[in-house]
Amino acid sequence: MTATDHDPAVPPASRTIRTFHPRRGRMSDRQTDALGRLWPAYGLDVPDGPVVPVDLADLFGRRAPVVLEIGSGMGDSTAAMAAADPDRDYLAVEVHTPGIANLLDLVERGGLRNVRVAQGDALSLVNGLPEGVLDAVHIFFPDPWPKTRHHKRRIIQPAHVALLRSRLRPGGTLHCATDWAEYAESMRETLEADPALVDTYGGFAPRPAHRPVTKFERRAITAGRPVADLIYRRR
Ligand SMILES: C[S@@+](CC[C@H](N)C(=O)[O-])C[C@H]1O[C@@H](n2cnc3c(N)ncnc32)[C@H](O)[C@@H]1O
Repeated sequence: MTATDHDPAVPPASRTIRTFHPRRGRMSDRQTDALGRLWPAYGLDVPDGPVVPVDLADLFGRRAPVVLEIGSGMGDSTAAMAAADPDRDYLAVEVHTPGIANLLDLVERGGLRNVRVAQGDALSLVNGLPEGVLDAVHIFFPDPWPKTRHHKRRIIQPAHVALLRSRLRPGGTLHCATDWAEYAESMRETLEADPALVDTYGGFAPRPAHRPVTKFERRAITAGRPVADLIYRRR
Protein backbone atom coordinates (compact mmCIF):
# COMPACT_ATOMS: atom_id res chain seq x y z
CA MET A 1 0.00 0.00 0.00
CA THR A 2 1.39 3.45 -0.83
CA ALA A 3 0.59 7.01 0.15
CA THR A 4 -1.36 7.43 -3.05
CA ASP A 5 -3.70 4.51 -2.35
CA HIS A 6 -5.35 5.71 0.79
CA ASP A 7 -5.87 8.64 3.07
CA PRO A 8 -5.03 7.60 6.63
CA ALA A 9 -6.26 10.99 7.81
CA VAL A 10 -9.65 9.34 7.53
CA PRO A 11 -9.15 6.26 9.69
CA PRO A 12 -11.40 3.24 9.48
CA ALA A 13 -14.09 2.97 12.15
CA SER A 14 -12.07 2.43 15.27
CA ARG A 15 -12.27 2.96 18.99
CA THR A 16 -8.73 4.36 19.02
CA ILE A 17 -8.43 7.91 20.32
CA ARG A 18 -6.58 9.84 17.63
CA THR A 19 -4.40 12.91 18.19
CA PHE A 20 -5.20 14.26 14.72
CA HIS A 21 -8.20 15.68 12.90
CA PRO A 22 -9.51 13.56 10.04
CA ARG A 23 -9.19 15.90 7.06
CA ARG A 24 -8.70 15.77 3.37
CA GLY A 25 -7.00 18.36 1.25
CA ARG A 26 -6.42 19.14 -2.36
CA MET A 27 -2.98 18.72 -3.78
CA SER A 28 -1.34 20.96 -6.35
CA ASP A 29 -0.07 19.37 -9.56
CA ARG A 30 3.45 19.83 -8.25
CA GLN A 31 2.63 17.97 -5.02
CA THR A 32 0.85 15.15 -6.89
CA ASP A 33 3.86 14.75 -9.13
CA ALA A 34 6.31 14.81 -6.20
CA LEU A 35 4.30 12.23 -4.27
CA GLY A 36 4.10 9.85 -7.21
CA ARG A 37 7.79 10.06 -8.08
CA LEU A 38 9.44 10.37 -4.67
CA TRP A 39 7.30 8.27 -2.33
CA PRO A 40 8.94 4.95 -3.38
CA ALA A 41 12.41 6.27 -2.46
CA TYR A 42 11.64 8.43 0.57
CA GLY A 43 8.28 7.23 1.93
CA LEU A 44 7.44 4.86 4.74
CA ASP A 45 3.90 3.64 5.19
CA VAL A 46 2.79 3.24 8.82
CA PRO A 47 -0.12 0.82 8.83
CA ASP A 48 -2.86 0.76 11.41
CA GLY A 49 -2.96 -2.41 13.42
CA PRO A 50 -0.04 -4.62 14.42
CA VAL A 51 3.21 -2.85 15.23
CA VAL A 52 5.71 -2.97 12.36
CA PRO A 53 9.38 -2.81 13.40
CA VAL A 54 11.34 0.01 11.74
CA ASP A 55 15.09 -0.29 11.11
CA LEU A 56 16.38 3.30 10.93
CA ALA A 57 19.81 2.41 9.51
CA ASP A 58 18.09 0.49 6.73
CA LEU A 59 15.63 3.33 6.11
CA PHE A 60 18.34 6.00 5.79
CA GLY A 61 21.08 3.80 4.35
CA ARG A 62 23.54 4.87 7.04
CA ARG A 63 23.99 5.01 10.81
CA ALA A 64 23.60 8.61 11.99
CA PRO A 65 21.72 10.29 14.86
CA VAL A 66 18.02 10.45 13.99
CA VAL A 67 15.56 13.27 14.71
CA LEU A 68 11.87 12.35 14.64
CA GLU A 69 9.49 15.19 13.79
CA ILE A 70 5.92 14.37 14.73
CA GLY A 71 3.18 16.18 12.81
CA SER A 72 5.43 17.78 10.22
CA GLY A 73 2.54 19.62 8.55
CA MET A 74 3.70 21.06 5.22
CA GLY A 75 7.27 20.02 6.04
CA ASP A 76 8.86 23.48 6.17
CA SER A 77 10.56 22.90 9.54
CA THR A 78 11.74 19.43 8.61
CA ALA A 79 13.26 20.52 5.30
CA ALA A 80 14.95 23.62 6.74
CA MET A 81 16.34 21.84 9.81
CA ALA A 82 17.54 18.84 7.80
CA ALA A 83 19.29 21.13 5.29
CA ALA A 84 21.09 22.92 8.13
CA ASP A 85 22.02 19.69 9.91
CA PRO A 86 23.33 17.18 7.32
CA ASP A 87 25.06 14.96 9.89
CA ARG A 88 21.73 13.92 11.41
CA ASP A 89 18.85 12.12 9.71
CA TYR A 90 15.29 13.49 9.89
CA LEU A 91 12.24 11.25 9.94
CA ALA A 92 9.01 13.23 9.55
CA VAL A 93 5.69 11.61 10.33
CA GLU A 94 2.37 13.06 9.25
CA VAL A 95 -1.08 11.82 8.30
CA HIS A 96 -2.02 14.64 5.94
CA THR A 97 -1.22 13.62 2.35
CA PRO A 98 -0.75 17.14 0.85
CA GLY A 99 1.75 17.96 3.62
CA ILE A 100 3.69 14.78 2.91
CA ALA A 101 3.71 15.56 -0.80
CA ASN A 102 4.88 19.11 -0.10
CA LEU A 103 7.75 17.86 2.05
CA LEU A 104 8.80 15.39 -0.66
CA ASP A 105 8.90 18.29 -3.10
CA LEU A 106 11.02 20.34 -0.67
CA VAL A 107 13.36 17.37 -0.22
CA GLU A 108 13.92 17.11 -3.95
CA ARG A 109 14.30 20.84 -4.49
CA GLY A 110 16.78 21.05 -1.61
CA GLY A 111 18.71 17.96 -2.74
CA LEU A 112 18.28 16.56 0.77
CA ARG A 113 19.52 13.04 1.38
CA ASN A 114 18.87 12.95 5.13
CA VAL A 115 15.04 13.07 5.15
CA ARG A 116 12.47 10.27 5.10
CA VAL A 117 8.74 10.79 5.34
CA ALA A 118 6.37 8.42 7.13
CA GLN A 119 2.63 8.49 6.61
CA GLY A 120 0.39 7.32 9.42
CA ASP A 121 -0.07 7.67 13.15
CA ALA A 122 3.16 8.76 14.82
CA LEU A 123 2.32 6.70 17.90
CA SER A 124 2.17 3.51 15.80
CA LEU A 125 5.48 4.44 14.16
CA VAL A 126 7.15 5.06 17.53
CA ASN A 127 5.87 1.75 18.86
CA GLY A 128 7.78 0.08 16.03
CA LEU A 129 11.11 1.73 16.95
CA PRO A 130 13.56 0.06 19.32
CA GLU A 131 14.21 1.77 22.65
CA GLY A 132 16.87 4.49 22.80
CA VAL A 133 17.36 4.96 19.04
CA LEU A 134 16.38 8.61 18.63
CA ASP A 135 18.62 11.62 19.13
CA ALA A 136 15.67 14.01 19.36
CA VAL A 137 11.90 14.22 19.02
CA HIS A 138 10.39 17.46 17.71
CA ILE A 139 6.70 18.27 18.16
CA PHE A 140 6.03 21.76 16.83
CA PHE A 141 2.58 23.30 17.16
CA PRO A 142 0.68 20.07 17.84
CA ASP A 143 -3.10 20.29 17.56
CA PRO A 144 -4.13 21.98 20.83
CA TRP A 145 -7.51 20.24 21.20
CA PRO A 146 -8.78 23.17 23.30
CA LYS A 147 -12.06 21.69 24.52
CA THR A 148 -11.71 19.87 27.84
CA ARG A 149 -13.52 16.81 26.49
CA HIS A 150 -10.88 16.61 23.74
CA HIS A 151 -7.81 16.85 25.99
CA LYS A 152 -7.53 13.06 25.80
CA ARG A 153 -6.58 13.55 22.13
CA ARG A 154 -3.53 15.67 22.90
CA ILE A 155 -0.21 14.19 21.84
CA ILE A 156 1.47 15.49 24.99
CA GLN A 157 -0.02 13.41 27.79
CA PRO A 158 1.75 11.12 30.27
CA ALA A 159 1.48 7.78 28.43
CA HIS A 160 2.58 9.25 25.09
CA VAL A 161 5.47 11.11 26.72
CA ALA A 162 6.64 7.90 28.41
CA LEU A 163 6.56 6.14 25.03
CA LEU A 164 8.44 8.92 23.23
CA ARG A 165 11.00 9.26 26.00
CA SER A 166 11.69 5.51 25.92
CA ARG A 167 12.80 5.82 22.27
CA LEU A 168 15.24 8.66 23.02
CA ARG A 169 18.84 7.84 23.80
CA PRO A 170 20.02 8.94 27.25
CA GLY A 171 20.67 12.68 26.86
CA GLY A 172 18.40 12.87 23.79
CA THR A 173 15.96 15.78 23.64
CA LEU A 174 12.20 16.13 23.45
CA HIS A 175 11.42 19.58 22.02
CA CYS A 176 7.83 20.86 21.93
CA ALA A 177 6.53 24.25 20.84
CA THR A 178 3.03 25.66 21.11
CA ASP A 179 1.20 28.97 20.92
CA TRP A 180 -1.69 27.71 23.06
CA ALA A 181 -1.01 29.03 26.58
CA GLU A 182 -3.08 26.50 28.48
CA TYR A 183 -1.58 23.60 26.49
CA ALA A 184 1.90 25.01 27.13
CA GLU A 185 1.25 24.88 30.88
CA SER A 186 -0.20 21.38 30.62
CA MET A 187 2.83 20.28 28.57
CA ARG A 188 5.18 21.69 31.19
CA GLU A 189 3.36 19.85 34.00
CA THR A 190 3.34 16.59 32.03
CA LEU A 191 7.01 16.79 31.08
CA GLU A 192 8.03 17.80 34.63
CA ALA A 193 6.12 14.81 36.01
CA ASP A 194 8.00 12.29 33.87
CA PRO A 195 10.67 10.85 36.19
CA ALA A 196 13.10 10.12 33.37
CA LEU A 197 13.07 13.60 31.81
CA VAL A 198 15.19 16.55 32.89
CA ASP A 199 14.23 20.14 32.19
CA THR A 200 17.08 21.78 30.28
CA TYR A 201 16.07 25.38 30.95
CA GLY A 202 14.23 25.42 34.30
CA GLY A 203 10.85 26.04 32.69
CA PHE A 204 10.12 27.42 29.27
CA ALA A 205 13.12 27.59 26.97
CA PRO A 206 14.26 30.67 25.06
CA ARG A 207 13.16 30.44 21.43
CA PRO A 208 15.87 28.39 19.72
CA ALA A 209 17.17 30.01 16.53
CA HIS A 210 17.32 26.61 14.82
CA ARG A 211 13.53 26.15 14.93
CA PRO A 212 12.22 27.68 11.68
CA VAL A 213 9.21 30.03 11.76
CA THR A 214 6.24 28.28 10.15
CA LYS A 215 2.71 29.40 9.26
CA PHE A 216 1.50 28.50 12.76
CA GLU A 217 4.09 30.68 14.46
CA ARG A 218 3.49 33.60 12.06
CA ARG A 219 -0.25 33.39 12.80
CA ALA A 220 0.44 33.33 16.53
CA ILE A 221 2.71 36.37 16.29
CA THR A 222 0.09 38.27 14.27
CA ALA A 223 -2.58 37.39 16.83
CA GLY A 224 -0.32 38.40 19.73
CA ARG A 225 -0.07 34.88 21.18
CA PRO A 226 3.33 34.10 22.71
CA VAL A 227 5.03 30.89 21.58
CA ALA A 228 6.41 28.57 24.25
CA ASP A 229 9.30 26.15 23.67
CA LEU A 230 9.88 23.25 26.04
CA ILE A 231 13.12 21.29 25.75
CA TYR A 232 13.66 18.27 28.00
CA ARG A 233 16.39 15.63 28.04
CA ARG A 234 16.15 11.94 28.79
CA ARG A 235 18.18 11.03 31.87
C1 LIG B 1 -1.20 22.14 13.88
S1 LIG B 1 -0.32 21.17 12.74
C2 LIG B 1 1.37 21.75 12.88
C3 LIG B 1 2.22 21.38 11.71
C4 LIG B 1 3.70 21.74 11.78
N1 LIG B 1 4.36 21.08 12.91
C5 LIG B 1 3.97 23.21 11.82
O1 LIG B 1 4.46 23.72 12.84
O2 LIG B 1 3.68 23.89 10.82
C6 LIG B 1 -0.27 19.61 13.59
C7 LIG B 1 -0.01 18.44 12.65
O3 LIG B 1 0.18 17.25 13.38
C8 LIG B 1 -0.37 16.17 12.66
N2 LIG B 1 -0.60 15.08 13.60
C9 LIG B 1 -1.32 15.12 14.75
N3 LIG B 1 -1.29 13.93 15.37
C10 LIG B 1 -0.51 13.12 14.60
C11 LIG B 1 -0.12 11.76 14.73
N4 LIG B 1 -0.51 11.01 15.76
N5 LIG B 1 0.66 11.23 13.77
C12 LIG B 1 1.05 11.99 12.70
N6 LIG B 1 0.71 13.28 12.53
C13 LIG B 1 -0.06 13.84 13.48
C14 LIG B 1 -1.63 16.76 12.06
O4 LIG B 1 -2.05 16.05 10.91
C15 LIG B 1 -1.18 18.18 11.71
O5 LIG B 1 -0.72 18.27 10.37
